[in-house]
Amino acid sequence: MSRRAIPEKTPAGGEPRVEAWRQLLGVRSERPSPLLASVPADEAALHELRERLARTPRELPSKYFYDDRGSALFEQITRLPEYYPTRTEEALLRAVAPEIAEACGGAQLSDVVELGSGAASKTVALLEAALALGAAPRYVAVDISAHALRRTRALLAQAAPQVAVQEVLADYTRALSLPSRLAQSRRLALFLGGTIGNDEDEDALALLARIREQLDPGDSFLLGANLVCEPAAIHAAYNDAQGVTAQFNFNILAAVNRLAQSRFDPRDFDHHAPYVVEHKRIEMWLVANRAVEIELGRLGASLKLAKGEGIRTEISRRFTRADVLQLLDAAGFSPDRWFESPNSRFGLGLGKARAGPRTP
Ligand SMILES: C[S@@+](CC[C@H](N)C(=O)[O-])C[C@H]1O[C@@H](n2cnc3c(N)ncnc32)[C@H](O)[C@@H]1O
Repeated sequence: MSRRAIPEKTPAGGEPRVEAWRQLLGVRSERPSPLLASVPADEAALHELRERLARTPRELPSKYFYDDRGSALFEQITRLPEYYPTRTEEALLRAVAPEIAEACGGAQLSDVVELGSGAASKTVALLEAALALGAAPRYVAVDISAHALRRTRALLAQAAPQVAVQEVLADYTRALSLPSRLAQSRRLALFLGGTIGNDEDEDALALLARIREQLDPGDSFLLGANLVCEPAAIHAAYNDAQGVTAQFNFNILAAVNRLAQSRFDPRDFDHHAPYVVEHKRIEMWLVANRAVEIELGRLGASLKLAKGEGIRTEISRRFTRADVLQLLDAAGFSPDRWFESPNSRFGLGLGKARAGPRTP
């Protein structure tokens, strides 16, 4: 385990209730964010889908992986022998949770807010560490997946029943508003699981800067990132022998079909997930295994794909320690601590919200 304190100036630089969370978080949008499978598609979601499918290369937003089935498949992925990120991050977090809880205010820690919380299985360690220091934190889980939020509720009811849990069904790429802190208290925002790697630099920075805007100086932010490591290990994690990741990839088409009333057929596609060394990232693709014309329903017209043509469904970037700390710094956080797994495959960067404008 490598833990390094970083001086302030380095480096360079039931169903979750939508109304309840809107009231709690004061979300500014008029409408709740789209809940896959149970909230009707709104125009913004359709517009985004259209725009992403028209790009070169064609894309689908990876958030659409996480309908009920996709979330269940993702949980299955996290337990696969090839998928090292979850167990690596979890072991790291367990080992350093007391130090993180102390650094984030100890007994004063009042809110732990997690974006893209999933089943929140690894967050339990952090909440337990805060409780041990005398804190009574509220846990706010923000996720686009109702399935994930149900799992969170069940898990925390069992593992940490003292913690008040608030589930927020929301798309964090849209309105984002965190609970305000009480005087003398501290908040900690979490973005774990390497999910930051699903965005290109510009979008990743914009998201972190929006999180920073919601925090006060002195609040903390913990960012989990997959690190650059052996390409074969990374490749295997997205190309498992049981084909669960392939099923997860195909499943995005079912979610898109529901949203857009389109007619993508997963049987027309192959799962393809190379590690692109040059870009330090996995790219997940659905590649047409024959020439197809797909009716796009509410997206309009149809989409023709030649055999071998692909749609990119996800990027999953690998970072260096310097990349993570620079990202934190640029978003307005003073890098405070760095924790790295013994195999150097996963890192956790802890930042403190800085007063003043962020780095341009
Ligand atoms: C890679 S999983 C990580 C889950 C969990 N944090 C972990 O470490 O195991 C990404 C999670 O983010 C959620 N998610 C993805 N895009 C989202 C969005 N735009 N808004 C809210 N949640 C999102 C997914 O539903 C999923 O639970």
